[in-house]
Amino acid sequence: MLPVLYLATQNKHKVEELSALLQDNFVIRDLSTLSLSEEIPETGNTLEENSLQKARYIAEKFQVTCLADDSGLEVEALDGAPGVFSARYAGEPKNDQANLHLLLTNLSGITNRRARFVTVLTYYANGSYTSFEGEIQGNIVEVPRGTQGFGYDPIFQPENETRTFAEMSLAEKNLIAHRARALEKFKNYLDKT
Ligand code: IMP
Repeated sequence: MLPVLYLATQNKHKVEELSALLQDNFVIRDLSTLSLSEEIPETGNTLEENSLQKARYIAEKFQVTCLADDSGLEVEALDGAPGVFSARYAGEPKNDQANLHLLLTNLSGITNRRARFVTVLTYYANGSYTSFEGEIQGNIVEVPRGTQGFGYDPIFQPENETRTFAEMSLAEKNLIAHRARALEKFKNYLDKT
């Protein structure tokens, strides 16, 4: 029987992405099966800190094995912004459309459109943890394209691609995306332990 792994995220898209990639290794459960009434604290200054904070919080509170991820979009011409603040770039409440439009506004007239998505995954089991990083390089397009995915997907065009993430199916995105790459490292680690 496969072991149970809890995903420390409230984001349905991430649960879908991660479940598709981990279904051979674990029985995946999301937070809806735990009695969690509060938001998971996320007060770190880096993706690494937040990822660990989320994994540790759920693992210790419920005594379960947990995988957390923290991701962000880093834009070269904006000195790495929005980075760890990607989810709330345009302020509260969290709004994907507002974030994306603020980013386009802040990049207007700037020719360097280079950016990367980064994910840090933290696997927390039996009181210890290991982290895995994945990234994908690309460019921010001028005008949003596509309806798939979430967040900044309509304005992120991966390197060597003509479509944005939002113009790809989930399966196509999962072949190259930051979370999938971090997950590959995690799966290699599982194979070795
Ligand atoms: P989180 O803190 O890991 O939930 O991610 C922070 C924010 O980064 C999300 O709210 C999205 O705006 C953005 N983000 C992370 N991963 C992706 C992705 O795969 N596509 C588009 N946006 C993403």
